Amino acid sequence: MKEYNLTTKMRAYKWDELTDEQREVLEMAKEQTKHSYCPYSGFHVGAAAKLANGTLIPGCNQENAAYPSGLCAERTALFAAGAQYPDQPVTRLGIACFTGGHFTKEPGSPCGACRQVMIETEHRYGGKMEVLLYGEDATWVFESAADLLPLIFVSENLKG
Ligand code: THU
Repeated sequence: MKEYNLTTKMRAYKWDELTDEQREVLEMAKEQTKHSYCPYSGFHVGAAAKLANGTLIPGCNQENAAYPSGLCAERTALFAAGAQYPDQPVTRLGIACFTGGHFTKEPGSPCGACRQVMIETEHRYGGKMEVLLYGEDATWVFESAADLLPLIFVSENLKG
C-alpha cells in the first residue's frame, strides 16, 4: 500500500489587492447575479469568462421546475463562450454568489460538474485559465482550473 497526499494551491486577496483585469471579470460576475434565474434556491450565482481576444462573456445560474434541467452560472458562461468564440481560449473565469440580500462573505465553491467543464476548457485550449471566486471578505484565486480538481479526467484518459 502506498499513501499519497494531494495538495493544491490558492491565494486569498482583498479587493484592493487584485489587478484591474481581475476586478473587471469579478465586476461582471457580480453584476450577473442580478440576471440569475433562481426561483427555487434563491441562490444567485454570476459568472464571467474572459477570452484571449479581450471579450467578456456573462453567465448566471438558470434553474428549472424540473431541477436537474437547470444549469450553473460557470457552465452557462463557458458554454456560451464556446458557442460564440470556439477559437478563443478562456483565460480567466470569475464567479460571485449573492443570497439573503448580500454577496457571500466567503466565496462559493464551484460544483464538481463545473470543475470538470473548467478542466475541459483549459485542456481544449492548451493553456491555464485563472479562476477567481469572489467573497466579500476575500477573493480566492486559483492560477489554473486544475488546482480545483486533482486527478483530472481528460481526453487522453479515454485512450486508456
Ligand atoms: N450554482 C451555481 O450556479 N454554481 C455553483 O458553483 C454552485 C451552485 C447554482 C445552481 C443552483 O441554481 C443554485 O446555485 C443552488 O445550488
